[in-house]
Amino acid sequence: MTKEKINKSRRRLIQSAGTLPIAVSAPVAFSDDHQKNYKKHDAFSLDEIYPRWKTDSAKWDLQTKRFPGQKIHAAMGIADLDFRTAPVITEAITKRVLHENWGYILTPDSYYDSIINWLKKRYDEEISRDQLLLATGVLPAIQSAIRAYCPKNSKVVLNSPGYSELYVNIRKAHCIPDESPLIKKDGKYHLDFDDLSKRLGKDDVYAFLLVNPHNPTGNCWSKNDLKKVADVCEQKNVMLFSDEIHCDFIAEDSTFTPVYSLDSEAAKKKAVVFKSTTKSFNLSAFKTGYVYAHDTDVISKIREAGHVEFANTLGVIASEVAYNHAEKWLNQVSSYINENMILVEEYINKEIPLIKFNRPQGTYLAWIDFKTWMDAIDAKSNAEKRGENKGDYMERHLVQKSGIQLGRGYRFGSGGENYLRMNVGTSRVLLKEALERIKLAAKKI
Ligand SMILES: Cc1ncc(COP(=O)(O)O)c(C=O)c1O
Repeated sequence: MTKEKINKSRRRLIQSAGTLPIAVSAPVAFSDDHQKNYKKHDAFSLDEIYPRWKTDSAKWDLQTKRFPGQKIHAAMGIADLDFRTAPVITEAITKRVLHENWGYILTPDSYYDSIINWLKKRYDEEISRDQLLLATGVLPAIQSAIRAYCPKNSKVVLNSPGYSELYVNIRKAHCIPDESPLIKKDGKYHLDFDDLSKRLGKDDVYAFLLVNPHNPTGNCWSKNDLKKVADVCEQKNVMLFSDEIHCDFIAEDSTFTPVYSLDSEAAKKKAVVFKSTTKSFNLSAFKTGYVYAHDTDVISKIREAGHVEFANTLGVIASEVAYNHAEKWLNQVSSYINENMILVEEYINKEIPLIKFNRPQGTYLAWIDFKTWMDAIDAKSNAEKRGENKGDYMERHLVQKSGIQLGRGYRFGSGGENYLRMNVGTSRVLLKEALERIKLAAKKI
């Protein structure tokens, strides 16, 4: 296959995407800014508002179904990125698409190697092939681990607020989510070790599902936190499942500690890590992921509990090329997100007193306190009259008044009731427009 042929296909793919309807209409002030800054600093065109409407995007197209007839300027709830993927990924996929056969694949050694090399290069983690298990995503892998270790109807402890799908997947594995509430102090979230210790010591608990960096609060748990967590897990003889899917998005003034690298015998015995290229390279459509642990018996036990290890062809190609050749793209996106978060924090503190926000240590998710706004519009009693949650009322109110859709915090369990979650993994031009629109809506309250 010639290079010219591949380039031609790539151009075709890109051109067809260019004909999709434009997602937003930016106010004039932002458009000017956009034109001035876009090409100057942005090797991967991150400032570009890349249209995603009518592509069956869960983040965008679901919202037009949920709010029929309502003009939505920006959908900022679901956690994926709005940017074009790294060009090397498009190239690799395009090349494979030209081979017109989609039979079963033999997962190549090079795919395993790309994961092992990435973990070594980026996190200094030494992993061998027998410590690694492929998966069709982080959530299916977590389900497998729960099925392997937690009997039916036992409890799996997780922190609340916590990512909504974790609750769903614990239930799908026939277990019960048991919330250990995070403590919020001075604008920061902390683990409650007394509560954890009590819960993990119960007879019907076999696992603690930790998320690091944490979704939705964005906390990165410190080395000390992790050591204490591992010790409690060992003392109570429960597994420590560590979902580190967001680990490649860390604020420039924060540190992420992978549990696998801890100098802790307890962590080496009990910790199981779940990761994927899903968040880092925005490849959630491809359904890939992986699990690793120090103890190879843990890997065998998860495999034997019926875990599905298959990978799909394009997922393997995209993930492998991402790990081998797209780190520059990831670093640029991560740094762009860091700046977006700073912008959001400064803007909210200065311009929107009805809401409160402290920049997170990791993730591209801004967990924003809307309590004052909810109170000002009587969200609770208005919602009760309609038989809904006040978060539903607040979300709809914001969509109607500003055209901006954010994720409802109550869906993240207890502690989320007063929050909405904004995904800042988008063009800064669009982000500024969203903030401006939210400010204008707040001013009318
Ligand atoms: C903490 C966490 N785990 C898992 C997932 C989903 O992982 P996957 O799509 O690989 O199943 C998400 C997606 O938002 C997440 O935030």
